[in-house]
Amino acid sequence: MLQVETLSVTLSGRQLLSGISFTAHPGQVTAIIGPNGSGKTTLLRALTAEHRYTGRATLNGHDIAVTRPSVMAGFRAVLAQDTQVAFPFTAEEIVRLGLEAGRGAVAADLPARMLAKVDLAGYGPRPYHRLSGGEQARVQLARILAQARQPVSESGPSWLFLDEPVASLDIGHQLMVMRLARDFAEAGGGVVAVMHDLNLTTMMADHLLLLQSGRLLAQGRATEIIADGPLRSAFGCRLRVNSLPAQGPWLLPQAEEGFAAP
Ligand SMILES: Nc1ncnc2c1ncn2[C@@H]1O[C@H](COP(=O)(O)OP(=O)(O)O)[C@@H](O)[C@H]1O
Ligand SMILES: [Mg+2]
Repeated sequence: MLQVETLSVTLSGRQLLSGISFTAHPGQVTAIIGPNGSGKTTLLRALTAEHRYTGRATLNGHDIAVTRPSVMAGFRAVLAQDTQVAFPFTAEEIVRLGLEAGRGAVAADLPARMLAKVDLAGYGPRPYHRLSGGEQARVQLARILAQARQPVSESGPSWLFLDEPVASLDIGHQLMVMRLARDFAEAGGGVVAVMHDLNLTTMMADHLLLLQSGRLLAQGRATEIIADGPLRSAFGCRLRVNSLPAQGPWLLPQAEEGFAAP
């Protein structure tokens, strides 16, 4: 379980997060949504011990602020919003970085299988730097899937922390990544994902956290959060919320009169 109690972050004299409290459960996808600059990445970075915070946060009972990174890497893998790769690695070498960080036995063909899982079969020898942005994003996803290779191990559930995992992907690959995240959760792992696309979020997330100006404005199921009131206050724009029988709420931006194409 991820338990967060009154977490606050101040960086360069600016308070970026204040009094954030929530619980995320293994077996579920928890989505963090909110406008640009609302603190989503800062929250994810605090929860991966990249930023200092006040308050308390534990993952599987380990205090995030003080647990050694090598211990955390055994059951928690992180997909950052931007990943800089300083060396001329191949795609397979990037995936191997994840294998080395994770725990447990590794089959020889695991990197190739992880690349195939993100629709990059045969990409292993290709130079990472020459891949497209969307392909690079999927190689990084293969890396963290290699790291968190068992959704549940003898020491408990594994966790994926994803910062905008579908931002650079086409719609087919967006759905593929959503499916991988859901499968990981349904196999008993925990997923915490920063998301921008609210319709994809509704399809995939069990629990939504809505941030605004560094505060948790609302949290709950998609049917509670994907509603005109909370979204209008957070995003400051008009949205039309509809619902589909099998898929729950979905929304469209509501253009001002005279703004939309004829
Ligand atoms: N190291 C930092 N020092 C000061 N301000 C920062 C720092 N990192 C991010 N911020 C500011 O914190 C706010 C939240 O940023 P971020 O968490 O990246 O937002 P987002 O919700 O878009 O992911 C932004 O206003 C950003 O400019
Ligand atoms: Mg961000």
